[in-house]
Amino acid sequence: MWSIVITIVLIVSASYAQLLVRTHWHDVVIKSRTIPTFQIVTNPLILPSSKIGKKVYQNIKELEADWSRFAGWFPYPRMSVAELYPPNCSSVDKKTSWDFKLLDEQIVSFLEATRGHPSHFSISTQPAWMFKVDKLVDIPQDFKSPVWNYLQGTQLVDDSIQQLADYYGRVAAWYSHGGFVDECGTLQKSNHFYNVPGFEIFNEIETEHQFKVEYYTKVYDKVVAKVKKYLPNAEFIGLSLTDPRKNFDYMSYFLNSSNHDANIPLDWISYHFYSLPDSKSTLAKQMFQQADDFLSYIPIFEKIRSSLSPTTKTTINELGTIFEKPEIGLSDDFWIMSGAQFAYCFAKLSAFGIEAVGMSQMVGFPGQYPSVSMVNWETGVGNSRYYVLKMIIKHVGLKMGAQDVVLVSTEQPCSSVFVQSYLVATKGGEWVKKTLFVNKGEEKQNIKVDGLGDGRFEYVDGSLGPFSDSKTVSVKDSVEVGPYCVGFLVYDVL
Ligand SMILES: *[C@@H]1O[C@H](CO)[C@@H](O)[C@H](O)[C@H]1NC(C)=O
Ligand SMILES: *[C@@H]1O[C@H](CO)[C@@H](O)[C@H](O)[C@H]1NC(C)=O
Repeated sequence: MWSIVITIVLIVSASYAQLLVRTHWHDVVIKSRTIPTFQIVTNPLILPSSKIGKKVYQNIKELEADWSRFAGWFPYPRMSVAELYPPNCSSVDKKTSWDFKLLDEQIVSFLEATRGHPSHFSISTQPAWMFKVDKLVDIPQDFKSPVWNYLQGTQLVDDSIQQLADYYGRVAAWYSHGGFVDECGTLQKSNHFYNVPGFEIFNEIETEHQFKVEYYTKVYDKVVAKVKKYLPNAEFIGLSLTDPRKNFDYMSYFLNSSNHDANIPLDWISYHFYSLPDSKSTLAKQMFQQADDFLSYIPIFEKIRSSLSPTTKTTINELGTIFEKPEIGLSDDFWIMSGAQFAYCFAKLSAFGIEAVGMSQMVGFPGQYPSVSMVNWETGVGNSRYYVLKMIIKHVGLKMGAQDVVLVSTEQPCSSVFVQSYLVATKGGEWVKKTLFVNKGEEKQNIKVDGLGDGRFEYVDGSLGPFSDSKTVSVKDSVEVGPYCVGFLVYDVL
């Protein structure tokens, strides 16, 4: 009889046992070198004159992200290619088709909104006419009409690669040197004298043009050599792999300096990751399972990189979740689930020492990868993903080296809530204690925090709605984390 009572008491107390976070503040995992950032990709809604354009660039300004990426992507060639047709210098008017109007609208707005923060260009869409193809694809007159097969061919017409290198040299000169002299000897003036801190050589090289890595490496060297003349201080980013898990050989070939010309920098490599859930009932579960699979490869990539080219940095400059089932639609909580996936990946990648992790992408809309959008495409207001990134930048962003951030060993409270504690050095030289919470599940959890006392908890979760800024509440001894909540707990005690 008594043993039954005792058993019941034990079961009852076990099920009410509070979850606990315990941090070992002196046990350093790594001094963070990870920059949280984002990318913005060419489409008609990112023009400053679009119905949401003004709000979009305001959002970018308020993010204060370092090392963001401008991606001049191919579906809108009139917006992403500066010379749409081959020059004809034997025509009477020495005709070239150089036209930067639409590129300028995007790039100038982007550079103004990110002023004071370094960024990188990925003007990845090569003029299609430079490739060996049977027939060029027609370019729609309306720049807003996407053409999904603009990129054709795997080999350049000019075997020496000089034509493509010259194209990128002129693009670089347009933004950094006030203009350039075109193929027919005409001066093309931009009056832009921007400092361009980073230049990426193409996008998703193994899928967009199906470049073999040997050919890509040759092209990289020729293009970098030319662009470097105009951007001597820029850092160059190579590879931009769609899925590095399938392409170890690309990384090991590219990072081997014996495969490059002399004096070609290997400053950065880039690769991408998207969770691709396919069922609405298991969205979050699939997002996190797939993220774990990707994360399990990072030590392998890091081993390749550090053994071949230890000073080369890594930017995972596209990270997100894609759920493209228009017939199902995106529910309100999709945005916070996706934000939680990003926060989780960001913290895990920081522990591996990855240098930059970029949320993909500022603006998507139906027909143009809506599920990766960081804003409401009708109003331009940020969604939960945007506000999650904003919190990450604010709390554990490196702010151009002005803020020291240290990851410390943190005991996980349970399998559904991920936690990571940080020590963040303030300007006054004091170390502030913070803990990131990511609830991967739909159950609300109450979690006791060892040594907390009083604190503030800034969070974004589904209860705030899909397009709402973070909320900060005062807490004592414990925190409550709602479904898919992402939050930073700031301890009042130092
Ligand atoms: C270049 O212009 C000349 C003179 O107008 C013309 O005869 C020739 O066909 C043009 N070449 C091409 C490739 O369009
Ligand atoms: C680097 O490349 C060279 C030339 O292709 C090759 O001989 C060498 O084995 C490679 N090194 C490594 C570590 O793979």
